[in-house]
Amino acid sequence: MTEYAARPDPTAGAAWARLTELAPKVPGLRDLLAEPGRFAAMRVDAPHLALDLSRQRWTDAVRAALLDLATETGTTDARAELFRGNALNPTERRAVLHTALRAPADAVIEVDGTNVMPAVHEALDRMLAFAEDVREGRWRGAGGAPIEHVVNIGIGGSALGPALVCEALEPSATPGPTVHFLANVDGHEVHSLLPTLPPERTLFVIASKSFGTLETKVNAETARSWFLERGGRVEDIARHFVAVSTNLDAAGAFGLPAENLFPLWDWVGGRYSLWSPIGLPIALRHGAAAFRRLLAGARAMDEHFRDAPPEANAPLQLALAETWNTNFLGCESLALLPYTSALARLPDYLQQLEMESNGKGVRDDGHPVAARTGTILWGNVGTTGQHAYHQLLHQGTQPFSAEFVLPLRMGHRHDDHHEWLVAHCFAQAEAFAHGRDETEVRAALEAGGTNAEDAARAAPHRVLPGDHPSTLVLLEDLSPESLGALVALHEHKVFAQGRLWGINSFDQWGVELGKVLGDRIHGALTRGGDALEALPDATTRELVRVFLDARGGRGAAET
Ligand code: F6P
Repeated sequence: MTEYAARPDPTAGAAWARLTELAPKVPGLRDLLAEPGRFAAMRVDAPHLALDLSRQRWTDAVRAALLDLATETGTTDARAELFRGNALNPTERRAVLHTALRAPADAVIEVDGTNVMPAVHEALDRMLAFAEDVREGRWRGAGGAPIEHVVNIGIGGSALGPALVCEALEPSATPGPTVHFLANVDGHEVHSLLPTLPPERTLFVIASKSFGTLETKVNAETARSWFLERGGRVEDIARHFVAVSTNLDAAGAFGLPAENLFPLWDWVGGRYSLWSPIGLPIALRHGAAAFRRLLAGARAMDEHFRDAPPEANAPLQLALAETWNTNFLGCESLALLPYTSALARLPDYLQQLEMESNGKGVRDDGHPVAARTGTILWGNVGTTGQHAYHQLLHQGTQPFSAEFVLPLRMGHRHDDHHEWLVAHCFAQAEAFAHGRDETEVRAALEAGGTNAEDAARAAPHRVLPGDHPSTLVLLEDLSPESLGALVALHEHKVFAQGRLWGINSFDQWGVELGKVLGDRIHGALTRGGDALEALPDATTRELVRVFLDARGGRGAAET
């Protein structure tokens, strides 16, 4: 029987009480930022990046109490568990060990008494060798043509990480196949992608930890039919389809030989899997060396998280800051603002990581967490957001916190562009913190020639309340190492925050109901009759009829 560990109620300890007491007394950010030496004192250096935490609305006393919370909840000590193969995911009866995917080959990490490292490195070496064979033209299509297009068919953790990294490394890309991501079951996606591809030069990677995900199954079947309809023979499939999964039997049943199958292990969560053979599209696009550098960057962050003292530990500090913002300052969401188009997919990626991991309301032992949990994370690249939703951030009424991610060095020579980008990133962080008060607004208007009466009337519309906390993540550059460190930083932040609340960050039971209902409704849409009448929700039954009418009664439901 799996043990569900008892987790302390974080709200019941002395640290939570102390933080509750401190929250209303914390000065505004303007006052805090006037403290001498604050920037240096609140800078946390980690491999390939640094955090500027000076614009968090916290004091030394708050930070000390947050560290006490980390101790009381066992979070500080829990860091080590992430490297030992502990069964940190009891509701799925699984160990949690994505850190093993970037550990060196001579490490010994055991799950149920077996050292997993030989299997990890064997799979890694085989996956990277395959990627190089494709890139170098040694692996060719059935007709002898080189592979020029790769289509990753996968969704969620089997797509978002590889898509993020493929795009982020594009500025320094070497020649390699173009990688496409087919995730959604929306027919528009296959409809617009497949006709653009030459089947004889296309490789499909079916990526699914379970090999049971509906969207992936439907897209894979469509891709196979398309390939066969375009002149491919059944025996050619083995040159044009490979798969990554824990469920190698199901992947084999798709018609693939063993050498086309790359393994995954149940101790790797989908959203933590880009370091495994799920990262194959990264290696195909950017090469084996880049993939190994990505792993090295993540490994450096692993070591930092495991070994750095709590007060200088970047993932832990990030987790503490967001817990303070969520539970004590009332922030309702986290705006994730990467200041580079190369990281445009970072908000999507982190949305799954944060919200699928910590969007839960009970502790590991099944007791409700007596506080708000999870983070609604959203965002898009700066500076484009500044000309869209930043208005609400500056003058709207919902409390939020922000995380800026800024590479200090870029992979292009347009220094003038980068200077503007940096200036605007720093400006937004400053504006969030300081805002603009009425006196300043009136003074500026009057200095510009507006009379006092008009200035007074206009002022309320131009006031920015400020006091919005933010973190600035200063990334060394857009190298694979930096990217690996950035992703691992957030993985560990999410783990630490989950542990502060006492929740299991590694299951995702909340998404299952939608799958069950989706299957049932699909039955009603396609079979009608009893399946339609059996739908328990009257509105859903009516909606199915509306849909069937709208498409002219086509389908089995009519017959
Ligand atoms: O439905 C959610 C989810 O299970 C994610 O956790 C996962 O990343 C995604 O679906 C895809 O799952 P799979 O890799 O098994 O196809």
